[in-house]
Amino acid sequence: MIGNRCSHGRGHNIRYTKNRMSTQLIRPARSLQGSLTVPGDKSISHRYAMLAGLAEGTTRLANFSTGADPHSSLACMEALGAKVLHNPDKTIEIAGVAGSFQQPATPLDCGNSGSTMRMLSGLIASHPHTFTLIGDASLTLRPMERIRKPLSQMAAKIHLTDGHAPIAIHGTPLRAIDFATPIPSAQVKTAVLFAGLQAEGTTSLSESIRTRDHSEHALKAFGATLTRSRDSLSILGGQPLHSIDATIPGDLSSAAFFLAAALLFPDSNLVLDSLGMNPTRAALLDVIAALGGRIKILAVEERHGELIGTIQVNRASAATATSAPFIVNGTLTAQLIDELPVLAAIAPYTPNGIVIRDAQELRVKESDRIALVAKNLRAMGAKFTENPDGIEIPGNQKLHGAVIDSGSDHRIAMAFAIAALRATGDTQIHGSEAAAISFPEFFTSLDSLAQR
Ligand code: S3P
Repeated sequence: MIGNRCSHGRGHNIRYTKNRMSTQLIRPARSLQGSLTVPGDKSISHRYAMLAGLAEGTTRLANFSTGADPHSSLACMEALGAKVLHNPDKTIEIAGVAGSFQQPATPLDCGNSGSTMRMLSGLIASHPHTFTLIGDASLTLRPMERIRKPLSQMAAKIHLTDGHAPIAIHGTPLRAIDFATPIPSAQVKTAVLFAGLQAEGTTSLSESIRTRDHSEHALKAFGATLTRSRDSLSILGGQPLHSIDATIPGDLSSAAFFLAAALLFPDSNLVLDSLGMNPTRAALLDVIAALGGRIKILAVEERHGELIGTIQVNRASAATATSAPFIVNGTLTAQLIDELPVLAAIAPYTPNGIVIRDAQELRVKESDRIALVAKNLRAMGAKFTENPDGIEIPGNQKLHGAVIDSGSDHRIAMAFAIAALRATGDTQIHGSEAAAISFPEFFTSLDSLAQR
């Protein structure tokens, strides 16, 4: 039975339900003003949920992501024997299994979440049980060979269905490997690190492009030792994990929608607080600045290896000197992968446009994000060129309101809600409920910040 269950945990307010489509009307705005705290970082929430589930003791987490995806990870932890408590003050307590997951009674439902499916596979592969990992229709189309290969090299017994979910894992002792990631992917890196933590020997990993390092910080926070040489990362197997108390920083990838929106209006003024500013995620801030945003860092501190800050954003008054489009390629593409839909959606309004290259990975995200960006830009009357690995979007264009197809992809729904703010006429976002995958409060926050 795939894709017909609601992928949320118990006892909390997640509004995302599959098979129930909603439409959101977005009216044009004059500017964006106010302050906002975005929900906890999705990537960090997944990792803390999984490591807390495996650890000894009770982990207490404040500002856990309200998105449905990390709640899929929590629900899987419960199925594996961890006890999860949702407190009225919105903190979450996870009593871990002290290194021994139990045999789940049902398949592990990863919902829409590639992070859950890929990272969890590494986390459970050495436990002596039989696991089936399933997901919704979108997740079932996403490539899983990228984790099967390294985990099999570690002696995991892992079987895919034509390269995809459902995934069957027969838990078995693992051995360490030296692994070079063939594609930049923090999820693949994490699957190998989580398996390496529980393998015999020292697992080493090198990345050609350095991806987000939340797993490295999270493993250290839970008590594991990792060593980094110039271009590789090593973890010794058999290290126990211990619970932590933590506050999860706000999700910069959710803030990205509002940062991009601030660029659209000359007198926008936005303050975002408790925001995750991990350097492996923060390339977005440089891009916003390069596109004409003025970002002031008002405060910054470090917690469990993660930087958390308060920033103020408005649009610089001076026009940019160059007339060349802004180019996103190579390392920058990998670092901005989740922010590319919103950058593409606002590209027509930028003075010189945006060219996105080396982004073939976008075609195997929650949807084919290049195709959906193209479809929706076309609906709004934009000119652009779609390429196999990206899109070229000239600047200085005027768009009109349209009917947008989210393709059930949260980032597409939110990206085009932002594009709609500067369009002529109203826009309808079909499938707007998908936003709840990462940011259930998105449309309410947008409404409170948009000045009309
Ligand atoms: C994530 C890594 C990225 C990103 C995803 C979250 C993570 O995926 O797109 O939204 O939390 O590690 P890939 O690892 O597939 O690049």
